[in-house]
Amino acid sequence: MNRADSNSLIHSLQSEGFLETTEYIDSDIIIINTCSVRQHAEDRVFARVRLFNAFKKREKKSMKIIVMGCMAQTSKDRLYSLGVDKVFDVYNEIKILDYIKNDDLIENDFNSNYVFSKSYVDKLYTHKAFLPITHGCDNWCTYCIVPHTRGGLISRPSKDILEDLKSLIDSGAKEITLLGQNVNSYGEDTKDMSFVQLLEEVDKTINDSDVWIRFTTSHPKDFDKNLADAIINLKSVCEHIHLPFQSGSNRILNLMDRKYTIEEYLEKVSYLRNITKDFLISTDIIVGFADETDEEFTETLNVIKSIGFEEAYLYKYSERAGTVAHEKKIAYDPNNGSLRLSKLIEIQRAIALSLLTKQVGTFHKVMINSIAKDKNNYLGRTRENRSIVIRLNDDKVLKTGEIYNAKIIDIRGHSLIADII
Ligand code: 5AD
Ligand code: SF4
Repeated sequence: MNRADSNSLIHSLQSEGFLETTEYIDSDIIIINTCSVRQHAEDRVFARVRLFNAFKKREKKSMKIIVMGCMAQTSKDRLYSLGVDKVFDVYNEIKILDYIKNDDLIENDFNSNYVFSKSYVDKLYTHKAFLPITHGCDNWCTYCIVPHTRGGLISRPSKDILEDLKSLIDSGAKEITLLGQNVNSYGEDTKDMSFVQLLEEVDKTINDSDVWIRFTTSHPKDFDKNLADAIINLKSVCEHIHLPFQSGSNRILNLMDRKYTIEEYLEKVSYLRNITKDFLISTDIIVGFADETDEEFTETLNVIKSIGFEEAYLYKYSERAGTVAHEKKIAYDPNNGSLRLSKLIEIQRAIALSLLTKQVGTFHKVMINSIAKDKNNYLGRTRENRSIVIRLNDDKVLKTGEIYNAKIIDIRGHSLIADII
């Protein structure tokens, strides 16, 4: 989401004549887009602000330091005290442009009149694009800061999304990711159309099998058969879903206010697995929340073992001031969290490796993303979002954004190695 917001702001600044620098020491304006989801992300921003401000003072530069994004809600005063010139309450690039150009600004209320920015293809990978379809979240998971920092759900009008989609395709986008904190709740506020209807409209608009559609993130409480069937039936929609389950324990899921049981989660996954032969499910897990017991942690381990995720993002619970869990003083033990996180990482790596090994010998369509740093291989992804290393052979030049048939011939570390056939 932040990559999409930053990309869009960079485009607007460039069209106003601003130039991007690669080194901060050369810049007149530094804009830091921030995330508050875990403490670690915030700590990195504080460190950067200190570094930039020290440089500014030492060199007596008139450089401006601007902060946008979620930390505007959580840490405004601290950011100002560290030398930030302006903190923006909302993700609103028009205001940032006004400020940079005129040095003044009309303050507006948090999240009021939120304006979706136009999407552009990625600067580095010009065949890829992010397309935000919602902003904010109404789910209020008790550990999560997002509804507090980004505000409630705002769905973008479908007409604007489809227009943006067309213009991305005209600009050469071949892989477009629809973005939202919980894409499944698209349209619940506006009653414009449901997420499944939006996917159908997107698929109709594309009408070209060379463009792949991805979306993230899905919430298990809203994920249903309709959506599963749509993913399978719509040609452009890729066979991958990011479906965070967070914990294998029903007591913990309840305290997180996730609104599903682990049995319901497992049932949804088995529906998907039954209707299609190859479908990648990735997930997020938080360990150490709410004085998680050994047994509850084991329940989480059992879920990853029984489902078999090739990809999982694993986190230790990070308490965020202002969340429901913080207000209710839900207890947790950070040391326990660290130990369990290490264990979980180790087990998940072994599971992923054994699943990836089974891919050797299989055939896939692969979209080329880039040439590897060593210039000896190309890097790409399958429709299921598996990351693939393509060996360079016969001096054949592959084009980024193009789709090739490939056979997986080997695995090195956790990387799948393939040849074009
Ligand atoms: N602590 C740790 N992980 C968190 N996430 C969200 N909030 C927290 C928190 N307070 C994780 C969830 C979510 C992902 C984007 O970040 O797993 O799915
Ligand atoms: Fe946070 Fe839950 Fe919303 Fe995801 S669905 S952004 S975890 S409140």
